[in-house]
Amino acid sequence: MNSDDKAASRRQLLKWLAGTPLLAFPGLAGLAAQTPPPWPQKSPDPMIWAPANLQDLITRPEDAINVFDFEPVARKTVPPAHFGYMASGIDDEATLRANREGFLKFQLRPRRLVDVSNVDMSADILGVRYNTPIVISPIGGHRAYHSGGEEAVARAAKVGNHLMILSTQSTTSPEDVMAARGAPIWYQLYATNKWDVTKAFLTRAERAGCLAVAVTVDRNGGRNQETLFRLQRTDTRNCSACHDRSSLEANYRTRPMYEGVDLSGLSNIQSSALTWETIKRMRDTTRMKIVIKGILAHEDAELAVKAGVDGIIVSNHGARSEDSGRSTIDALPEIVAQVRGRMPILIDSGFRRGTDIAKALCLGATAVCIGRPYIWGLGAFGQPGVERVLELLRAELYAIMQQVGAPSVKHLVPAMVRRA
Ligand code: FNR
Repeated sequence: MNSDDKAASRRQLLKWLAGTPLLAFPGLAGLAAQTPPPWPQKSPDPMIWAPANLQDLITRPEDAINVFDFEPVARKTVPPAHFGYMASGIDDEATLRANREGFLKFQLRPRRLVDVSNVDMSADILGVRYNTPIVISPIGGHRAYHSGGEEAVARAAKVGNHLMILSTQSTTSPEDVMAARGAPIWYQLYATNKWDVTKAFLTRAERAGCLAVAVTVDRNGGRNQETLFRLQRTDTRNCSACHDRSSLEANYRTRPMYEGVDLSGLSNIQSSALTWETIKRMRDTTRMKIVIKGILAHEDAELAVKAGVDGIIVSNHGARSEDSGRSTIDALPEIVAQVRGRMPILIDSGFRRGTDIAKALCLGATAVCIGRPYIWGLGAFGQPGVERVLELLRAELYAIMQQVGAPSVKHLVPAMVRRA
């Protein structure tokens, strides 16, 4: 039978089916309309015997098996618009997916017969020793996820002695966060296009005792956060009760970093006019160490070295700036090769597993910053949720360091990872 004949007889069969009482049964009607049949032709390999079920939400942080267990709980506990803001990527969210899929492009090469009965995960970040290289990324407005806010996160960070980077958009003052953390933190700067604002933020952070400023350089303009916009439509609360969008000042009045800062002349807080000249000016203005957050190309890494900054964070802002489609783990090797150890390289975006962290450390990162997962923990359970998220990441990192034969982070070397 040629293909024309096949198509003709299929049409005949469908026509006959359409006239039979068989189609009174809705299930059968569906089957008749679909070729090939909708049922799976083969069992999954490997078989999935205990798939995660989104209906079975954990009710206590200690029940979490991995950090992903917190996200569906947060989806329930956090208002839809806030959850949407947190979860959103940009446009098609290709970068959001790439940030996760990027880790599959790298494989670990374990070594054997190394004594890993004691693993030291401690890491030196800009001259300070932390228990692990796992860092809290700056995320704005923690109180949008839980009333404990930034202080809850700081106390959880204290438990595991994690470095915390505080956002300019914080809903708690840097002084209070520092007190809750019980140790110096870093401050993240949205410089805006107005130098006086930049200077005011730097002065405040330095006075509060922040060790370093992470200057975010990847938020230059508007963005299309489709997940946010869709979930926002499902939120029945009155947003204007909390968000006064009548002016920039009114909108940021409740954010402690903006207290007493003159925003006149600005229509937004983006930093579209930032250049290496501005970085130089910052260098001349603050004694804090300067780290550039948002580097993705080796050319910019070289310029950062030349500008005399103290470090960089390879970041695509958790896929929240542009939908480039490129993951940060993919960008890391070219940057490490360019920097050649002249400054520490931190990295973030999409890190959810100990193996993700180990891969970045093997490739040459000094530390790895975690974003959304600790917000899932915060939104779900407050401080205990954040504690458990960090504990799980530490446990997974410890396990993979044992498995690859790395008794300390300096033993996580390039030879332990290869491109798939
Ligand atoms: C962020 N991020 C961010 N970055 C920054 O420099 N200043 C900020 O105020 C914020 N705020 C913010 C809010 C929310 C809701 C998210 C999810 C992210 C980016 C953050 O520091 C970090 O780069 C990413 O979150 C890392 O990616 P993952 O771990 O979230 O995938």
